[in-house]
Amino acid sequence: MTTPTPTDPTLQFPPEFVWGVATSAFQIEGAADVDGKGPSIWDTFCQQPGAIADASDGRIACDHYHRWESDLDLIADLGVDAYRFSVSWPRVRPGGSGAWNPRGLGFYERLVDGLLARGLQPYVTLNHWDLPDELQANGGWANRDTVHRFVEYAQGLADCLGDRVASITTHNEPWVMSVLGHETGIFAPGVKNRATAMQASHHLLLSHGLAIQALRAQSVKAQLGIVLNLSPMHAATAAPADLAKARLEDGRLTRWFLDPIFNASYPADVLEALGADAPRVEAGDMNAIASRMDFLGVNYYSRAVVSADGPWDVSRSGREITDMGWEIYPEGLTELLMRLQRDYPVPPLFVTENGGAFKDSLVDGRVHDRQRTDYIARHIAAVAEAMRQGVRMGGYMVWSLMDNFEWASGYEKRFGIVHVDYETQTRTLKDSARWYREFLHRQKADS
Ligand code: NOJ
Repeated sequence: MTTPTPTDPTLQFPPEFVWGVATSAFQIEGAADVDGKGPSIWDTFCQQPGAIADASDGRIACDHYHRWESDLDLIADLGVDAYRFSVSWPRVRPGGSGAWNPRGLGFYERLVDGLLARGLQPYVTLNHWDLPDELQANGGWANRDTVHRFVEYAQGLADCLGDRVASITTHNEPWVMSVLGHETGIFAPGVKNRATAMQASHHLLLSHGLAIQALRAQSVKAQLGIVLNLSPMHAATAAPADLAKARLEDGRLTRWFLDPIFNASYPADVLEALGADAPRVEAGDMNAIASRMDFLGVNYYSRAVVSADGPWDVSRSGREITDMGWEIYPEGLTELLMRLQRDYPVPPLFVTENGGAFKDSLVDGRVHDRQRTDYIARHIAAVAEAMRQGVRMGGYMVWSLMDNFEWASGYEKRFGIVHVDYETQTRTLKDSARWYREFLHRQKADS
């Protein structure tokens, strides 16, 4: 299959469709203890031997904290409408409770004003995983008290920025924070206990719902929602055991979050499978979780294939695989978006992340990242197809603006459409960024 060109007539979107690029605070900012920032669970996790593949950390990252102005110029130059970024909770309220840090808040005020001055819409995420370490000392997301600390944080941020940002996401990928952070323990805070993971997931959902209610009470102008990592869950074969496993895994990844958000209940089959590991839920929690949202953000990278015999060998797919070992499966995005609209009363959907890690080489100032360009173009085509089939879509954002700290994989995996030389902090547009810029230029010219 050839890469759709920027002028491909099937890639025509309505003028109000929002195009963007995305990042998160811990992955790009650096400045780990500058201007009063407190430590987050990721600062601490990076110090554990063996936790990060290349033994790196987020102390400097892309040094975006000091380079934000030129980074905003870069974003504006791409011709996008919106920039999705996250606020570092321990930068603005270092201990997670108690005193606020005006210097930290000032950074995000300047960032938001800088975006607006360049005609870009700020899309803010409140929690992209970097919980203040002091709250973890108290149990973190497994402790119900953190729910209330998060609501205070959301209110404080909204006081400061709520009149100027287009969109506020409560949490980014609660499945990752709960399961990878508390069950497998491969992400911060590195806990390995299923009951703790499920309790954390309930608290994340509850804090989402209560924060939405608090922000509505504050009359913030921004659109409010959550971002989930979702994938179609395919059975490796039609054997009943594979189908049953795929159904349960879909329950844990997808229905566990969507059922409470849209139907105020956890899926019965997953609760039964969890048994004693199911979370403690108090009266009123489920209705709070189901507070009305303005959008649902979807982070899509690949499908998942499930076999009752153990892990499925991705090399059997016959498809191209990214540097993360993820199968490239664009039609899964169409399938997922259509399923969401069919099964749930969803508000407009946004693809809040989509992109690929590939081995890049910078030669004579160019990065010929054909695979990434192809990946992005084909996934944009998959969104267009979902819209042709009637799915209400609000926008699409590339992950990521620039190469950055890819969590437990460190800096070895590069997702950026802009290359970062970590020695010099030089940014260089890859061919994928050039494709995206040209594509966006055509969209605007035709509308
Ligand atoms: C989802 C996460 O939100 C983001 O932080 C991460 O870098 C990408 N997936 C790629 O793994």
